[in-house]
Amino acid sequence: MSILKVVEWPAKVLETPAETVTKFDDSLRAFVNDMFETMFASKGIGLAANQVGDLRRVITIEIPYAKEDAESEATKMWWHDKRFTFINPIIVKKSGRISWQEGCLSFPEVYDFVDRSAEVWIKAQDEFGKDFEVHATDLFAVCLQHEIDHIDGVVFFKRMSRLKAERVRNKMLKRGKLDVDEKNV
Ligand code: NI
Repeated sequence: MSILKVVEWPAKVLETPAETVTKFDDSLRAFVNDMFETMFASKGIGLAANQVGDLRRVITIEIPYAKEDAESEATKMWWHDKRFTFINPIIVKKSGRISWQEGCLSFPEVYDFVDRSAEVWIKAQDEFGKDFEVHATDLFAVCLQHEIDHIDGVVFFKRMSRLKAERVRNKMLKRGKLDVDEKNV
């Protein structure tokens, strides 16, 4: 297993739609393991293949149950603390609205509210090509929509108001410029 490099916007690969996976072999499973390792190392709760420079429709998710934030065990959901691999995911149904403050490993230090569907029904394949379905709510639904956007080449500021999106773009472009300047020193 190895930790992969997470690319930051404006890398072109983040705005390129990924392709359907047709080969469910050992190299795909090794890649999925690397994605999990990369995600854990970066303290992310979700990762899309585009973010490590790969254009396959592969998503990994694991949302830790943060006990310190919870009022009781009742707030723990079935999807907490579970590893999910979604390959070729499709949203078959969605309902409701939810607004969540999102972050993204490809946008360090950027956090802002994004409006999404409160519930989504997803069809996908696992790393062996087996079909499965999930009904996701709350943060799991938010995370899935964020990651499915990634494999469609849609970064999260595209879901924000024009003003907020402009703020994020400027912050990232400035950050990129600072990196270049620092390297020149
Ligand atoms: Ni992201």
